[in-house]
Amino acid sequence: MSRILITGGSSYLGQHLVPLAVAAGHTVYYTYHQNSPTLPGSGQQLDIRDETAVHNLIHSRQPEIILHLAGSNRGAAMAAVIRQGAGNLVWAARALNARLVHLSTDSIFAGNAAPYDETAVPTPVNAYGRAKADAEAIVQQHANSVIVRTSLIYSLEQMDHGTRWMAEALAKGDPITLFSNQMRNPVWVTSLCAAILELAESSFTGILNVAGQQVLSRADFALKLLDYWQIQPRHTLTIAPSDGRWPLNCELNLGLATAVLKTPLPGVDKVLAQAQ
Ligand SMILES: NC(=O)c1ccc[n+]([C@@H]2O[C@H](COP(=O)([O-])OP(=O)(O)OC[C@H]3O[C@@H](n4cnc5c(N)ncnc54)[C@H](OP(=O)(O)O)[C@@H]3O)[C@@H](O)[C@H]2O)c1
Repeated sequence: MSRILITGGSSYLGQHLVPLAVAAGHTVYYTYHQNSPTLPGSGQQLDIRDETAVHNLIHSRQPEIILHLAGSNRGAAMAAVIRQGAGNLVWAARALNARLVHLSTDSIFAGNAAPYDETAVPTPVNAYGRAKADAEAIVQQHANSVIVRTSLIYSLEQMDHGTRWMAEALAKGDPITLFSNQMRNPVWVTSLCAAILELAESSFTGILNVAGQQVLSRADFALKLLDYWQIQPRHTLTIAPSDGRWPLNCELNLGLATAVLKTPLPGVDKVLAQAQ
């Protein structure tokens, strides 16, 4: 069992990953920034942009493995958190020779050359994608690292960010449009967490696509989750093609993940069927 530091323990993904890592028998330290979560393991406030704070935390905890989740598409300081956070962590991980697993995203792609395998070069078209693409380049400077490129994360126990946003808008009667031509591989948080923990203890290095096996439009995915969470009414909901301002098809090729991982990566229909 290992000493594991998880940045962004308070994130949607972190709130699932921290308990699973503790249950697997690891000694788990996790960080939060503004929202202190109630989780097993040992939590600590951290602004990952603060180089000295990152250095002090890493040297006091001496993690063998760092799982870097902090830095999503949310928050005003998003790009700085992603870029500076990756830089500070890579520097600290190299000093300790700790293994680093970094969470990346299909949003690094323009969405016009799918499916994307691990050799695909980032072609970001928005600020989040550009910051995450830069973070990947920073992480690649550390040899003992894994970059996990993933897609829309959902759970059947805790509503994901996207479904929560839709539920709140629909409850207020605000109009929302679900895009019929944006393709993604939504990933069940339980299988993503299992894959991250498997990679944490494996010898794999480099980029790995880890997402669900089923490719769905954002509209089809959203409707399945609205049904699952029994969200009504829906009279302000429209389904239409996107004008292409956002990446259209970000399908990730899962051939390498299937070969490398023991963890299965079921698609949405299979996960929902298990829940019946
Ligand atoms: N959610 C998805 O569908 C999805 C898809 C693809 C990839 N990913 C990747 O998966 C990871 C987790 O995503 P998520 O959606 O679960 O994240 P999230 O819920 O939006 O949470 C963001 C996390 O970043 C932390 N954070 C923000 N500013 C920080 C700072 N200055 N210093 C340290 N930590 C800071 C937040 O801490 P506080 O809340 O405590 O302030 C929180 O733990 C990210 O790397 C994201 O890019 C997510």
